[in-house]
Amino acid sequence: MASSSQKLTSACFAVLLIFVVCTLTVMILPNNQVTLSRKMKTEDPQSFNSSAMAIRQEGVELSEHAIPDPDQATLLQTKEQNITERRKLGFFSCGNGNLIDDCWRCDPNWHMNRKRLAYCGMGFGSNATGGRDGRFYVVDDPTDEDMKYPKPGTLRHAVIQVEPLWIIFKRDMVMTLKQELIMNSYKTIDARGANVHIANGACITIQGITHVIIHGLHIHDCIRTGNAMVRSSPSHYGMRNMSDGDAVSIYGSSHIWIDHNSLSKCADGLVDVVMGSTAVTISNNHLTHHNEVMLLGNNDLYTQDKNMKVTIAYNHFGEGLKQRMPRCRHGYFHVVNNDYTHWEMYAIGGSANPTINSQGNRYAAPKNRYAKEVTKRVVKRETTEWKKWNWRSEGDMLVNGAFFIQSGEGESASYGSASSLEAKPASMVASITSTAGALGCREGKPCY
Ligand SMILES: *[C@@H]1O[C@H](CO)[C@@H](O)[C@H](O)[C@H]1NC(C)=O
Ligand SMILES: *[C@@H]1O[C@H](CO)[C@@H](O)[C@H](O)[C@H]1NC(C)=O
Ligand SMILES: *[C@@H]1O[C@H](CO)[C@@H](O)[C@H](O)[C@H]1NC(C)=O
Ligand SMILES: *[C@@H]1O[C@H](CO)[C@@H](O)[C@H](O)[C@H]1NC(C)=O
Repeated sequence: MASSSQKLTSACFAVLLIFVVCTLTVMILPNNQVTLSRKMKTEDPQSFNSSAMAIRQEGVELSEHAIPDPDQATLLQTKEQNITERRKLGFFSCGNGNLIDDCWRCDPNWHMNRKRLAYCGMGFGSNATGGRDGRFYVVDDPTDEDMKYPKPGTLRHAVIQVEPLWIIFKRDMVMTLKQELIMNSYKTIDARGANVHIANGACITIQGITHVIIHGLHIHDCIRTGNAMVRSSPSHYGMRNMSDGDAVSIYGSSHIWIDHNSLSKCADGLVDVVMGSTAVTISNNHLTHHNEVMLLGNNDLYTQDKNMKVTIAYNHFGEGLKQRMPRCRHGYFHVVNNDYTHWEMYAIGGSANPTINSQGNRYAAPKNRYAKEVTKRVVKRETTEWKKWNWRSEGDMLVNGAFFIQSGEGESASYGSASSLEAKPASMVASITSTAGALGCREGKPCY
């Protein structure tokens, strides 16, 4: 057994080391810059635990104790940028017609202006602020061990906090989550600058909250989990029933923006928006290898979904997809400038009188001559109620014999409620969606 003086000496040494590295960090990091410094990865994982490491990385706060109770744990802080500059369309134009990306993606200093992204949203979820008005939180620990008392430095610890947070990643990582990642309001998960996977475990749940931005993640091979205690905020944990196994589940939530993620191979949906959710934009994602891709409204009888508004823009529905891109109920859906290169059964489906405004998409039908129809109405046999549903195709490009069956009164006023951003000609879709999915952003270079 170590003597107490030995313990004291090693404790002093550790504190001294942390202090020295902090000082160095402050000197190295320029002001107003969040650096996911890859150069500074000299730490020995044995000698620092994650909170100490994370705090040192930021060089701003040094907590005296890592406190397991998320109520009291010290959050990481960086110097704030003063963002007074509003989005200027075309300012950083990449010239490919993508109005969202033009707002930030070709800025070589994107990493110094991370929060600019929060001003770049478009469509029904464009008012999602995420963690724009909060501090940065650097995730440096890919583990997910304790569902009740998540460890500081983990993504789970970041997303449950009450205060707004802009969450970034110190390095590339693969996270296999034991239970659903239950988010709290006002959070941005911004994986730019790192290759971050949430895979082979539970995935993201956005339930009963507001103002979330998810950007730049690879989410795949999500499985069903549950029957476990999981913390959802610093003051609450509770029993979770079995989850569906969605990549991103949006349940009773609003002002949500899901942008530039690569999504594939999950037990249930890739993005599901259900139970009174609204003001959602799903943009620039690359979706592959999956059966039931997107469910927007999960119950014909759930009439609160009549207010649901979702924008599906600039996504690439790619290889290995079968159906539901999306499958809609009740609300207003603007499907604009997406590239549909693969489906097996159909692309856009619905029931319960949804309004679907399809503009400027490219629909390329599969070889199977019985699967050329873009649309599918889920109705009882012999009923014709679907003929009143407002589904229109405007400026879509139909390839390989694809056809879109329209319905409704044509110039109905309802399309006003299903319009959310200006459609570009379908001939530009290949270019607009050419960088769909998680981007390979590196500091000092535009994100490709
Ligand atoms: C983590 O680091 C903090 C701060 O240096 C320290 O007080 C705490 O004992 C460490 N915890 C573990 C589990 O090593
Ligand atoms: C941000 O910058 C603007 C212009 O330089 C200044 O007027 C404003 O007071 C600053 N805001 C904060 C919160 O520092
Ligand atoms: C965003 O907020 C503004 C100001 O409150 C509002 O006028 C606008 O309608 C909102 N946009 C959407 C798409 O909800
Ligand atoms: C969880 O499942 C139990 C048993 O099926 C059910 O009674 C309960 O309402 C469920 N809880 C939630 C939050 O869905």
